[in-house]
Amino acid sequence: MSSPFFKVFTRKTYCKALIASILIISLILIPIIISNTQDLQYISIRRSPPSSQTNLNHMAFGIVSSLRTWPNRKGYVKSWWRPNQTRGHIFLDQPPTPDLLPWPTTVPPYRTSDDLSGLTQRTKPKFEDVWRLVHTILELFREEDEDNLRWIVMGDDDSVFFVENIVDLLREYDHRKYYYFGGNSESVISNYWYSFQQAFGGGGFVLSYGLAKALAKDMEGCLVRHAQDIGADLMTMRCIADIGVNLTPHKGFHQMDLRGDSSGYLSAHPNIPVMTLHHIDAVNPIFPSMDRAESIRKLMKAANADQSRVLQQTICYDRQANWSFSVSWGYAVHIYERIMPRSHLQKPIETFTPWERDPKIPFYMFNTRPLSKDPCEAPHIFFLESVRSSSDKISINYLRAQKRDLPTCSYSGNHSADTVLNIHVFSSTKKRLQIDRSECCDVTRVDDAKMEVQLRECGVDEIIA
Ligand SMILES: *[C@@H]1O[C@H](CO)[C@@H](O)[C@H](O)[C@H]1NC(C)=O
Ligand SMILES: *[C@@H]1O[C@H](CO)[C@@H](O)[C@H](O)[C@H]1NC(C)=O
Ligand SMILES: *[C@@H]1O[C@H](CO)[C@@H](O)[C@H](O)[C@H]1NC(C)=O
Repeated sequence: MSSPFFKVFTRKTYCKALIASILIISLILIPIIISNTQDLQYISIRRSPPSSQTNLNHMAFGIVSSLRTWPNRKGYVKSWWRPNQTRGHIFLDQPPTPDLLPWPTTVPPYRTSDDLSGLTQRTKPKFEDVWRLVHTILELFREEDEDNLRWIVMGDDDSVFFVENIVDLLREYDHRKYYYFGGNSESVISNYWYSFQQAFGGGGFVLSYGLAKALAKDMEGCLVRHAQDIGADLMTMRCIADIGVNLTPHKGFHQMDLRGDSSGYLSAHPNIPVMTLHHIDAVNPIFPSMDRAESIRKLMKAANADQSRVLQQTICYDRQANWSFSVSWGYAVHIYERIMPRSHLQKPIETFTPWERDPKIPFYMFNTRPLSKDPCEAPHIFFLESVRSSSDKISINYLRAQKRDLPTCSYSGNHSADTVLNIHVFSSTKKRLQIDRSECCDVTRVDDAKMEVQLRECGVDEIIA
């Protein structure tokens, strides 16, 4: 078959050829010009989010689980999953046994992980389970790749997600570009052994649509090239690096590579919204005298009133008594019987122990304060009791955890806080997403047993001291 272009030139009619050439050139050029203008527009909007706001239904969750861990961990997934609002899947290593069926509607629908035995016969991975976990990214993408997919969020069955905070974070970014969000380990040596460049998987990580698509397309190449990797999160990072993308670390993703009592860590959360908590099984229940799943459900009660403030630390002082207050919103309040600078109170009290069995210092990626029996250093501790919200105000009641059983700090005026039994903390219902500055607060005493703390924006030049 001869093409029309060929006919035009065989007629050798100069004029016609000229008109045809102009036509052809314009036909070729116009799309180029148009696409260039599109590129220019694209460049000019690339820093801003897409025109329609990112919502929960734009994100798909991929939760990696197994028949062995699921029965004990489904309560954690239930605590944050919102049936008919959140989308995604649980990926099991094997089809569920009859006792796990019918599958509850209060957790993500399950999928059984793909059989990779064809691939493992050709290339032997160091750990087959590592391949299964990394391959889940492709499987989730395959299940969820529809018009309105913008982000995928990966985690374990013992990861707890604060989904509204994740949406608020992702709203600021263009999903068509290449983003990899997540957090490091709290343990120095874990970052050293694996990578300072990787998002630790259980702490949750987020891939933009553009990146997830590229990674899914290269999945087989990725698994083969990095078959010897010892961790799925490490392999994921290496494959993402091969695409030319690096981690954008975010301090709200918590791998929680800690053991024992995590309350010191959780009570000194930076002033950013919390995205995830992980290793719920490795630490004690986060509220004393409750089991792990109950504790997480309790924290979620505060989160349901205002996710943005959860755990964020606010510090203020009672000058009459020379006390310092540290409020970790929705979780705990500490009273210290002397004035301490914010820089000191921001350091977690080392209530926890290192992740590794035979640790060497430095243990943690942050400075800590030792657990102390010094009455001027040890806090009175109050934990979340109840949450009440109205249209403009949230009121949270915190109850004393236990008697401190120490004398009064004498050098700051000998003002004992032993009588205080509960603390009401009031905050605005307006979300607190900004990370340039903490909130401030004011302390008032109602009677010997009850204190009130009112959170508010700090004054322009206000000093917290
Ligand atoms: C989800 O929606 C379906 C259909 O709209 C409904 O039948 C089901 O009860 C809902 N599930 C929950 C847990 O709300
Ligand atoms: C607060 O503590 C300082 C010493 O740190 C002391 O000089 C001052 O008198 C105390 N104020 C009150 C009200 O006790
Ligand atoms: C501190 O106050 C208590 C009673 O509130 C008193 O018994 C104690 O002697 C005081 N200590 C000092 C060092 O003043």
